[in-house]
Formats: sequence, C-alpha cells, structure tokens
Amino acid sequence: MALQVFTAVTGAGWESELVGALDRDAHGVTVVRRCVDVAELLAAAATGTGQAALLSAELRRLDGEAVSRLHAAGVAVVGLVEPGDELAVQRLRQLGVAQVLPADADPEVIAAALREAVAGVPDAGRDVADPRAALPAPAEPEPALARPGGRGRVVAVWGPTGAPGRTTVAVGLADEAARLDVATLLVDADVYGGVVAQVLGLLDESPGLAGAARLAGTGMLDAAALTRLAWAVRPGLRVLTGLARADRWPELRPSAVGTVLEEARRLADLTVVDCAFNVEDDEELSFDTAAPRRNGATLAALEQADTVLCVTGADPVALQRCVRALDQLREALPDVEPVLVVNQLRRGPVPGDPREEVAAALDRFTGRRPRSFLPADRRATDAALATGRTLAEVAPGSPLRAELRALAADLAGVRAPAAGRRRLRDRRAG
Ligand SMILES: Nc1ncnc2c1ncn2[C@@H]1O[C@H](COP(=O)(O)OP(=O)(O)O)[C@@H](O)[C@H]1O
Ligand SMILES: [Mg+2]
Repeated sequence: MALQVFTAVTGAGWESELVGALDRDAHGVTVVRRCVDVAELLAAAATGTGQAALLSAELRRLDGEAVSRLHAAGVAVVGLVEPGDELAVQRLRQLGVAQVLPADADPEVIAAALREAVAGVPDAGRDVADPRAALPAPAEPEPALARPGGRGRVVAVWGPTGAPGRTTVAVGLADEAARLDVATLLVDADVYGGVVAQVLGLLDESPGLAGAARLAGTGMLDAAALTRLAWAVRPGLRVLTGLARADRWPELRPSAVGTVLEEARRLADLTVVDCAFNVEDDEELSFDTAAPRRNGATLAALEQADTVLCVTGADPVALQRCVRALDQLREALPDVEPVLVVNQLRRGPVPGDPREEVAAALDRFTGRRPRSFLPADRRATDAALATGRTLAEVAPGSPLRAELRALAADLAGVRAPAAGRRRLRDRRAG
C-alpha cells in the first residue's frame, strides 16, 4: 500500500511541482493532504490518516514542539531546504528532524527518505523524544565557544520525594568539580520549582533553563547562546537557573531540555543536573498524548545522563521512599542504572552502625550497594544556606564536603586530593 503523506511545503516556488511529481509518479507515495501551515499539519496528523510529513524549513511557527507532536502522533518527518542552505539543515536537525534533503532532490529520493523515516519513527505517544535525534550532524564545525575535543559528561542528580538532599548534592558536586579544575555547568531542572539560584545567592532574574529551552525549541540554541544564558559564578562554574515559579513547568519541554543538555556537553566537561523526584509518566494520567507533560523534562534528563545518582536519606522512612522510587524509575526507564548516594547519614534513626545498617537494608530491598555515604552536618548546611555560599566556602574542613569532593572527582574522572582519595579507596576495599 502506498505511503500516506502530508505535505507542508508552502512558500516555495518548487512546491506544487514537487508535490505533484511525488503524487503522480509511481513512487509508492500518496499525498493525502497539502497543509498550508503548522496548525493544519498538526490537526491532520491527529487524524491518524498519514504516516509521514514532508515539510520545508521556511514553514512559519515550525518549532521543536511541533516536531515532537508529529512524532507523538506516529508521523515521521522529512524536511526540505533550499539547496545549499546549511543553516536550515542544522536548524531542522536541532528541531528533531533527522532526514533533511535539498528541495531539488529527485522525487524518487524524497520518497525513499519518507519510507526510511517511517521505518525509524518513534512509537506513537512517546514524547520523551530521543534527544540524540536532535543532535546536529557530527561533521558540523564546533561553535567558537565550545570546549575543544569531545563531549562533556552529564550527571543527573535525582532521588525520591521528601527532600533527601538532591539540591545539596547537585550544588556541592558542581562546586567541588569546578574547584578540581573541571569546567562545570550546573543546571536546575526541577520542574516543581527551582531553588539553585537562591541556594547560591544569585539574583534570579535570568531566563536560565527556560530561556535555553525556548531557544532550543526554535532551533537557535548554540554554545554562545547557552553561555549568555548561564550565570558565571566563577570562571570554571556556570549555572543555568531553574523555574522561579513552579507553575511555569510547561516551559520545560522534554525534547528542548534534551537539546539543552546536548549543547551543554559541548560547553562543559561536566554538567550536573538537579532533577525533580517525580518520574510518573503523565501520559498514563492523560489520554491526550499531545498534552504537555510535567515529568517529561525529568525523564528526558535521566534518559540523557551518563550517570544518574539516586540520593536517599538514611532514616527508615527515607529508605522506604527510595525503594519505591527505584521501582518507579525502573518502570519508566528500564535502561537507567542509578548509582545510590546515601545522604544525611547519622546515628539515631537506625539501630547499630548506620552505615552498615543502611547498606544492608538497601542491598536487601534494591539489590544495590551505595557508592557514597554523605554524613549529616546540619551546622555546615545551615551556614551555607544562611549566606548563599557553598560548603567549600563555609565549612571547608567538614567531612560532608570531603565526601562530596571525592564523589565529584570520581564522577568527573579526575584525581581527588589526597584525603578524598584515601577515603574512596577505603570505601572500595570495604
Ligand atoms: N548531609 C546533610 N546534612 C545536613 N543537612 C542536609 C544535608 N543534606 C541536605 N540537608 C538539608 O536538608 C534540606 C533539604 O535538602 P535539599 O538539598 O534542598 O533537598 P531536595 O533537593 O532533595 O529537596 C535542606 O535544608 C538542606 O540544607
Ligand atoms: Mg531540590
């Protein structure tokens, strides 16, 4: 059966000729609808009568969200650009259009690209669009501000509800990595309201992550733009602040957050993402597959990260929450292997040696041993909160800081200072 295709290639002289040729000749393609704009294309896609869309880069209001919605409706997308317009090619790729051809390509070639795109289309209804699809082509020249050579690592700091200390760990790791001469970007991606700016004493008037996501959605995000949107706290530490108001979560579109993190890899050796706890798939809460999903940004960050830390508290209630959260994570993202970080470890809430008891309980219920134990140190964290500074500044000799520094070195793949290294070795031996 012929492939059912929507077209939205208005505004170009070659449109009607091309579409006519595609339709007329025996290319195995039937144009079921010629759409004049993005709105009509999305409406057509929602009817389920087509498997692919052919659209031109000039289409007004075409953004990453529209491409995500087409994919969510099970419609594969092929883009057409004016021959030689490399910027348009790059822009379409950033919006998530994997197949882009010059408009003067042979109709046979375009038909083949449509078939190929349909074969590779993501499952309908999955909005956590594969961020890799939004990657600019690897052969593209590096932007001027990009770090030379290779890709930075992304570490997502996640954990159950109940304030186990995700933000404390994310801020501490980013600060310590930067102090170890690792170019670091801290991203506040908590869709339930960001507090990183406040914790670091930054005046949060910057558009931050939402601004970066907006640019990514229009295909305009590059390393220079990301640099402008991030606070330079110190030379080696940049911060992309989060949502100042929790009700602005729809600004953090999952596919756009994926693109921002991809760009972050070019800017920083290490990107640390402070994530929200909730990984419930909103899709199951709503039958409207095109509706914005609050937890989509969290899922996109966890899916994209090289390492996902699960930060848990060390008392029985926190451990119980951790076990449940890991179950939910496995359901939502079966391929993610989280690394356990026990925070707020102290004597009292569990009998006996807290470290051994907590490790044994987590092993029993999750089959995992913690990578790191961070002691409770209210005096140090309070001093940091009271002054909007980091642990390295207000409690440089604290054991909490030393453990964060060792973990930061481990994650960034650099040598830890002597004290931290000894601790790490002991832990591995033990
Ligand atoms: N290791 C620790 N020792 C003492 N207090 C901590 C520790 N980790 C976090 N806290 C405190 O616990 C509270 C919640 O931490 P936060 O990092 O904001 O959690 P989350 O981001 O998971 O909601 C904050 O007041 C923080 O200072
Ligand atoms: Mg937090």
